[in-house]
Amino acid sequence: NWTPEHFIQTTVERVRAQVGNGHAICGLSGGVDSSVAAVLVARAIGDRLTCIFVNNGVLRKDEFYKVQKTMREQLGLNVVAVDAAQRFLDKLAGITDPERKRKIIGNEFIAVFDDEAKKIFEAEKSSGEEVAWLVQGTLYPDVIESSSVHGPSHTIKSHHNVGGLPEDMKLKLIEPLRDLFKDEVRRIGRDLGMPADIIDRQPFPGPGLAVRILGEVTPERVAILQEADEIVVDEIKKAGLYKKVWQSFAVLLPVKSVGVMGDQRTYANTCAIRAVESEDGMTADWAPLPYEVLRTISSRIVSEVRGINRVVYDITSKPPGTIEWE
Ligand code: XMP
Repeated sequence: NWTPEHFIQTTVERVRAQVGNGHAICGLSGGVDSSVAAVLVARAIGDRLTCIFVNNGVLRKDEFYKVQKTMREQLGLNVVAVDAAQRFLDKLAGITDPERKRKIIGNEFIAVFDDEAKKIFEAEKSSGEEVAWLVQGTLYPDVIESSSVHGPSHTIKSHHNVGGLPEDMKLKLIEPLRDLFKDEVRRIGRDLGMPADIIDRQPFPGPGLAVRILGEVTPERVAILQEADEIVVDEIKKAGLYKKVWQSFAVLLPVKSVGVMGDQRTYANTCAIRAVESEDGMTADWAPLPYEVLRTISSRIVSEVRGINRVVYDITSKPPGTIEWE
């Protein structure tokens, strides 16, 4: 008979027994899964958990600051924030292939994460502890879908190895959520007293906006998509639909078209709106968003986002489409 309270209690006890006096690290993404995993483990071992949050340059607008603030101030987590945006964007320059983007972001993430992990564990080592723990927010669908079209490159999720640790230090994995579905994770998060804006957050891919910018990822294109994305999230929330749809977001296409603004001819980017309903992300139906909501999203994007002059709506379900465009 599964209840959140029971799950939390047994998990906290198990993690506490496992980790003993050891130290654990956890990569935060700002999403539900890694946050719930971190809060659970922090319940068990307190500030012997260090969370690492990396700005990969393709986060949502202001997310690097907002997430840090929430994680520290509202969740009381011990967070090391690393702004590596430039490093990621430099590596992404000129790359258009989706899987290469994923691979680059995955590899850079691991490199940045390893550097931080090493610093943290080296400091701990002086206390004589030899086993280090890595916390991951892997869910049941991640376990069974790990051979999907996107392969095992789901950034944080596939991070099973931290290199460069002192030789006699072993890294062991803690995956407290690996038997759970998303709705169960949300119930646990609520029971842990976590704020609704984290618990109800829609999934966001590890490679972030990079897989929503078709073609090359440049700082200018990231900025354009961040603005459009913010409008989509804002309007979907205002319409009371944010929790009803599984994901809703904007995609920046490598397509320019002609438009007219005032008495000026424009020649600018096209943005696609994607909104889907789903239980677990494995299959999805395109969401029949009300025309009024689509109208507001479209007119706001075209008038407020410099660089976009046309908005289209994606009416493809999964399968045969995927939720993300890349
Ligand atoms: P697709 O596009 O495969 O997406 O239908 C299914 C779910 O997975 C998310 N997704 C990812 N998450 N790294 C992630 O962490 C990735 O590379 C990745 N690709 C897709 C997607 O947002 C959706 O929720």
